[in-house]
Amino acid sequence: MSETYTASVVGGTGFTGGELLRLLADHSAFDVVQATSRSDANRTIGHVHPNLRDLDLRFSKPDDLASVDVLFAATPHGVSMDQIDAFRDAADTVVDLSADFRLPDERYYDEYYDGHSRPELLEEATYALPELNRDALPGADLIASGGCNATATMLGLYPLVEAGILEPSDRTVVDVKVGSSEGGAGGGAASSHPERSGVVRPYAPTGHRHEAEIEAYLDRSVDFTVHAVDMIRGASATCHTFPEAAAAGELETVDLWTAFRDAYGDEPFVDLVAGGGGVYRYPEPKAVAGTNRAEIGFAAEDDRVVVFAAIDNMMKGSAGQAVHAANVALGLDETAGLDQRGLHPVGAP
Ligand SMILES: NC(=O)c1ccc[n+]([C@@H]2O[C@H](COP(=O)([O-])OP(=O)(O)OC[C@H]3O[C@@H](n4cnc5c(N)ncnc54)[C@H](OP(=O)(O)O)[C@@H]3O)[C@@H](O)[C@H]2O)c1
Repeated sequence: MSETYTASVVGGTGFTGGELLRLLADHSAFDVVQATSRSDANRTIGHVHPNLRDLDLRFSKPDDLASVDVLFAATPHGVSMDQIDAFRDAADTVVDLSADFRLPDERYYDEYYDGHSRPELLEEATYALPELNRDALPGADLIASGGCNATATMLGLYPLVEAGILEPSDRTVVDVKVGSSEGGAGGGAASSHPERSGVVRPYAPTGHRHEAEIEAYLDRSVDFTVHAVDMIRGASATCHTFPEAAAAGELETVDLWTAFRDAYGDEPFVDLVAGGGGVYRYPEPKAVAGTNRAEIGFAAEDDRVVVFAAIDNMMKGSAGQAVHAANVALGLDETAGLDQRGLHPVGAP
């Protein structure tokens, strides 16, 4: 019989916590024994997540953590770094969805956040974007799942970087459009339905925190802007790159196809969507909503190569990626519990 791992979700009432509970409930290797909430303690999972009414579990307070094999932390920035000792006492493996352990150097937290209370642990943590650093994950016991906008951007740019087509000095301008669920269940006024409806609102024109993640793991800085748009799920990154090789007339479309196929030909969660026929000729977040899949595409003209990446921020951009990372860390089938397909047709998710 295959091994089963006990799991808990700290922050189980949140958006990504709900997605973790949905994924883990159908994952044959995990048995969820605890989901925490301070505000909804003793209520059923279905009380908060109506799609999970069949789960026979109630939220409990996070100050009494169950002993488990894997603890998933789906809490706001700052909580994991403050409570990491309790999390690690409770679990052999901690998978954190927040930014608290993503960055390898305290200087990023000083520059982009309000510093870090446990900087000595940063070098113990393993960043997780499995398509980029799968080999680092087996046996990791403190895992930091990649950020949603950074994940979309890096999945888009990585093939060009890996193939040596895009040099660190080549200019890259990234525009990401995101859905309101990125702000979490307590998203506030900016994400309330009447305010969000119909908007294409630049909310981080410069200085977005995910610039740090891209700089740390793709070894270059990018010009990065994020727009809040009228969808619930989804992150769609448009990356305008200006490779020196393209300006010199030394880059053919076949080189781009080779780069993207080399990077993603064997990846279970990445689909190349570049031109072709039909209505959906380039990556579309609606097509991957509810799935752990990423669509990646590109087009080129003159000195510019534009790359598109579409993910579901709560799946490939957080909960799905966290489960993917746990699968790799524990030596499970990478795709276990993550074989959901999208819906079509479907309204704006
Ligand atoms: N939403 C996304 O698309 C997305 C994507 C990538 C990464 N992330 C990251 O994932 C994390 C969770 O995001 P989310 O959108 O799911 O947030 P959320 O919807 O606001 O949920 C936060 C959860 O944490 C709990 N919580 C809050 N403060 C806590 C504390 N001090 N101790 C214990 N539990 C606490 C909340 O429940 P109680 O207050 O009842 O305890 C709630 O269950 C964040 O760090 C976020 O940056 C989110």
